[in-house]
Amino acid sequence: MHNIKVNLHLNNYEIRIGSGLLEKASEALSDLGFNGKLVIITNPVVKVLYGDMLRADLEAAGFDASVLIVPEGEDFKSLEQAGKLFLGLNEIHAERTTPILAVGGGVMGDLAGFVSATYMRGVPLVQIPTTLLSQVDSSIGGKVAVNHGRLKNNIGAFYQPKMVITDVSTLKTLPEKEMNNGLAEAIKYGIICDKGLFQIIESEIERIKSFDERILTEVICRCAGIKAKIVEKDEKDTGLRNILNYGHTIGHAIETVSDFRVSHGQAVSIGMVTAGLISLKMGFLSDSDLNRIEAVLIKSALPVKIPGLDIDDLMQALKHDKKKKEGKIRFILPKSIGEVFFSDEASTALIEQVLREMNEETEDLRQHYRK
Ligand code: NAD
Ligand code: GLY
Repeated sequence: MHNIKVNLHLNNYEIRIGSGLLEKASEALSDLGFNGKLVIITNPVVKVLYGDMLRADLEAAGFDASVLIVPEGEDFKSLEQAGKLFLGLNEIHAERTTPILAVGGGVMGDLAGFVSATYMRGVPLVQIPTTLLSQVDSSIGGKVAVNHGRLKNNIGAFYQPKMVITDVSTLKTLPEKEMNNGLAEAIKYGIICDKGLFQIIESEIERIKSFDERILTEVICRCAGIKAKIVEKDEKDTGLRNILNYGHTIGHAIETVSDFRVSHGQAVSIGMVTAGLISLKMGFLSDSDLNRIEAVLIKSALPVKIPGLDIDDLMQALKHDKKKKEGKIRFILPKSIGEVFFSDEASTALIEQVLREMNEETEDLRQHYRK
């Protein structure tokens, strides 16, 4: 088992990473000093795959484990669903000391995390991520949120978990598209600050995609370690932590304009290449580095072109993005593989030109992006 520490002023915690950790989660929870009642929040898919096994281990170890089920999908990462969970917690007499275990992907981590942060002004939270995206990114760092109307991820809090338990073996059941979404974020970490990680993904992509546990564990540990260090330096996302948004400025605009037919990971993939092309045209990134970025994403079965979207709509969405600074669109641009910088200097004309260059409307692509 690998152990990564997140050292924060008042909220230090461990990220435990290994294979088979879920079936002995009771040991980790006892290490935290928990006993008695706790609540698993998960969805029907993950419950059948892992929730039942987790509950059996907890019950065998003497815990009193209740399960609250949230329907599958991003649509249920909502204030309304949070309200239902508050009532569910109340019904089973959950108290301020009752830990909540968020078991699933980023949707579950964000929603159950938000509920943990707010039920009785905060109950202990343990993140148990089961998708690659949640293992490398969303379970770490304490951003919890729900969506509300057009406000995606904008109703939330910074609420650190007591522990993150990452069982790499759960990825064996993950659908390929979800694996690819997570890979986009892992590749992002390589580009922003770890050339070695990028090289590993470049050379080992086939083994990663065939669930080679050793290499997957190495990739997850490196990503988690990077995120832990960034969060330690900028917990509340006032500066450095923004570099995690490389590819996300354009990515969010693509998600919105495509009406979420393009998934988060796919949109980030396109966003990273588009930001790369902007950087190249501004004279920072080399042709060969941009080609490597594009090639590793293509090898990961991720899209690298905008799928025939309305460029005026994309520009509008970019201008509304929350990362806009004093009227200018703020990008995280790659200088080389392993190094990025903040820039407000890309002109609107350049951004629009690059978006048009990247836009490729073909039926083939449309099929590829459809959910
Ligand atoms: P997700 O939570 O929707 O999970 C994807 C799918 O995989 C779901 O259908 C789920 O039921 C299924 N699943 C989960 N684990 C599985 C397993 N082991 N085997 C088989 N199927 C499994 O998607 P995600 O990509 O994990 O997370 C996306 C969410 O994360 C978004 O809501 C996004 O806003 C959020 N996010 C949050 C942060 C953060 O810092 N808090 C960062 C990035 C993304
Ligand atoms: N996923 C971006 C962050 O945690 O800041």
